[in-house]
Amino acid sequence: MADKVKVAVLISGRGSNMLALSEHKRKDPDRAYEIVLVASNVPEARGLVLARRLGIATWSLSHQGMKREEFDALLDSELRRRDVELVALAGYMRLLSPWFIERWQGRILNIHPSLLPLHKGLDTHKRALDAGDSEAGCSVHVVTEALDDGAVIGQARVRIRPRDTPESLAERVLAEEHKLYPVALEQYCAALREAEAG
Ligand code: GRF
Repeated sequence: MADKVKVAVLISGRGSNMLALSEHKRKDPDRAYEIVLVASNVPEARGLVLARRLGIATWSLSHQGMKREEFDALLDSELRRRDVELVALAGYMRLLSPWFIERWQGRILNIHPSLLPLHKGLDTHKRALDAGDSEAGCSVHVVTEALDDGAVIGQARVRIRPRDTPESLAERVLAEEHKLYPVALEQYCAALREAEAG
């Protein structure tokens, strides 16, 4: 059986999606991926503490005062050093430079808390409510230079309830994110290996 796809998860905060990806792998070591690094642009990110507790290697560096490409070059070196093959953004709250995206073309996934192409960017739950949408959800997509715009590889939906607030909706969508992202990552990694095998 082919080696597992080496994945780095990029986070900026609490890291609940990172945890879900790690948990999915822990339940079945035969999964097509393994998380070899959790990296962050926020050294105090809660998710880094969780990753360390799980025994996953971490890397962090504050991006403050750095040019985008300068930061991304250091991140890229760390990823290469660890033989990372795929980058999974999970609440990574910093735009990646075009240079980085080009270098990792087809090898960066993101989870976004809306039913793309609806509500790209921030404040998705409030915007879904303000728009009077009847459903909300989350999407896993391939990252391209345009924000939240690459091919969608998986989506999960939740019904919007009359008394929903951005917070109540976020909670239900997050529960779906935790189920969707591991499955989407697994499928993407399995497909990568199949493509390599020809
Ligand atoms: C999630 O809602 C994700 O969709 C968005 O940022 C949030 C990250 O949450 N991109 P967590 O850090 O995974 O808990």
